[in-house]
Amino acid sequence: MAAPADVGARAEQLRDELRHHGYRYYVLDDPEIGDDAYDALLDELRALEAEHPELQTPDSPTQRVGGPPVSNLAKVRHLAPMLSLANARSEEELRAWVARMRNHLAREGIEDPEFTYVCEPKIDGLAISLLYRDGVLERGATRGDGEVGEDVTHNLRTIPSIPLRIDGDDVPPLLEVRGEVYLSLPDFQALNERRAQAGQSTFMNPRNAAAGTIRQLDPKLAAQRPLSMWCYGVGVTEGLSFSRHSESLDWLRSHGFRVNDDVLTLRSEDEVVAQCLDWQDRRGSLDFEIDGVVVKVDDLELQRRLGTAGRDPRWAIAWKFPPTTAVTRLNEVLWNVGKFGDLHPFADLEPVRVGGVVVKLATLHNEEDLARKDVRPGDDVIVLRAGDVIPQVVSPAPHAVERKDRGPVPRPPVQCPVCGTPTVKPEGSVFTKCPNVLCPGRQWQLLKHFASQGAMDIEGLGEKQVAVLQEAGLVRTAADFYRLTPEQLTGLRGVGETSARRLVDAIQDSKDRPFGRVLFAIGLEEVGFVTGRTLAQRFRTIDALLDATPEQIRDTPGVGPIMAQRIHRQLADPQMRALIADLRAQGIRFEEQGPPPGEGPLSGKTLVLTGTLPDLTREQATERITRAGGRVTSSVSKRTDYVVAGDSPGASKVEKAERLAVPIVDEAGLLALLGDPGLR
Ligand code: IVH
Repeated sequence: MAAPADVGARAEQLRDELRHHGYRYYVLDDPEIGDDAYDALLDELRALEAEHPELQTPDSPTQRVGGPPVSNLAKVRHLAPMLSLANARSEEELRAWVARMRNHLAREGIEDPEFTYVCEPKIDGLAISLLYRDGVLERGATRGDGEVGEDVTHNLRTIPSIPLRIDGDDVPPLLEVRGEVYLSLPDFQALNERRAQAGQSTFMNPRNAAAGTIRQLDPKLAAQRPLSMWCYGVGVTEGLSFSRHSESLDWLRSHGFRVNDDVLTLRSEDEVVAQCLDWQDRRGSLDFEIDGVVVKVDDLELQRRLGTAGRDPRWAIAWKFPPTTAVTRLNEVLWNVGKFGDLHPFADLEPVRVGGVVVKLATLHNEEDLARKDVRPGDDVIVLRAGDVIPQVVSPAPHAVERKDRGPVPRPPVQCPVCGTPTVKPEGSVFTKCPNVLCPGRQWQLLKHFASQGAMDIEGLGEKQVAVLQEAGLVRTAADFYRLTPEQLTGLRGVGETSARRLVDAIQDSKDRPFGRVLFAIGLEEVGFVTGRTLAQRFRTIDALLDATPEQIRDTPGVGPIMAQRIHRQLADPQMRALIADLRAQGIRFEEQGPPPGEGPLSGKTLVLTGTLPDLTREQATERITRAGGRVTSSVSKRTDYVVAGDSPGASKVEKAERLAVPIVDEAGLLALLGDPGLR
């Protein structure tokens, strides 16, 4: 039965009011009514919709609580690629960017362009694209690799600052809004405290928390976490056009989207530099994390003429903040057991905020490093966090070394901290080691390495899951993963029936990883991803490799005599042989597929990769180069044909390439060498 007209009208009125108050609260941060009054309106609307379900609209504020879970995250292709950004780390680099733009435009016949710039905070969350059709939110997706992302609409709908509907008389038929979803610092802290109290693991930083939440299948979870979104641009549109980026931001702001009010339009490079430094100063007082400032050319016609270089637009740059440091107390030096039994020192610290993240643990690298730094328990120490890397202890604070009652010099433990076996220090090694090959600490490292991204890449099998499986006695070697059944997994700590089945599927799916990755995954000392591949190509089958002499192994590009001996010795080890036999019996691929290398546009060429490429991971780049007949090695020599340099390349590699006149190319250059027009 249709609802009476007055009930329908009341529902609509309530929706409008709730939308308005939600906007005041979540977008403008300027509420007009209190929480109780808001909740009363929401309760009334819920009651009406419960009684008359036909009144419920997809854009109703009641829909924010989260609908039914989805079964997987569907892949979606972006209508236009979501680009990344080149970095500037200093004033010189920022000015060099402007000079590059001027040169580029001059070649295009545009002399002396007048730039105005828009300076925006570079929010440290995750990039999201929202697609509105006729003003209604149709789909929201993560950036993914820039071309293809994941459909996370179910979770984005729960975020109160994201409009479910755009109002106004200039609503375009199609509009893509781009921005960054994030968790504020106070909300992040509160979330972690709640999790810690409930005995759950805590998130490393707000970005991980936001990314983890957005990729959940059940939107009820996202609805409980106070995510928000800053919008920073318009993507694809139909029926709307702007001539300046700043105009598009104004349009978004006036149509219910959350755009940062401190975004400024500036006229000169000097002003831009001053603004970047200003954000840098204010960074610590913001209630969300930023890791830099994005500077964009305002004029959209100039943007179009400037175009992109690889994945980076020429018309924008990210001013990156320098690494941040903090001083805190070193409580204790603890030791970690590595894949091959090597003991690594790390610091247990008094929790401290560094660059917006609370740090409790930091690496001390190795014994030599520890001795050189001379940090002692009880010292105040300087902790450094740069970008994504693990925080590290740099040195004692200057005042700490003057104390008379400093603690003892930390020494490597005489017994393995995990299994208690007396430790050894092999001659010539910088590491004290746990010699017990069955040490659960060592095994844990090996197992998680096996499942990790560059290796067998088993989704859902991270370090925690590996530990749970080990503790339950279900997994001792990597081959045991392939014998797991959903029944065995269901009921283990936090594992439901669906995720158990999904994990078993992911494990089974990993059986067809290329041979080179398998060689990397099984954990041979010194065999990284690249050597795994080259060994696979050279020997093509595991039998050929197992039968090879050290001299034959040495014949592999990039493998020296000592390394060849070590690989040979490890492959002869009965335990390694047993593992290989067991994995083979489980159906893991121990043979190279496809035609032998050497054919393709890069045949006979040797390339070195350095830095982070905007789009391809190192593994993907390596796979594509090898497929094209080329070879990837790790150090630059006169035999190197190209160095492919991404973001933050190794300075020594670049210098050596320059000295030896080896051409340096970026990702776009690599794609050109691969004969790839960039459209994948
Ligand atoms: S613009 C120009 N603006 O930074 C094309 N990106 O390194 C790039 N980000 O994936 C996007 N704040 O996740 C832009 N104000 C901002 C941003 C921003 C954060 C992120 C975004 C993007 C990454 C690029």
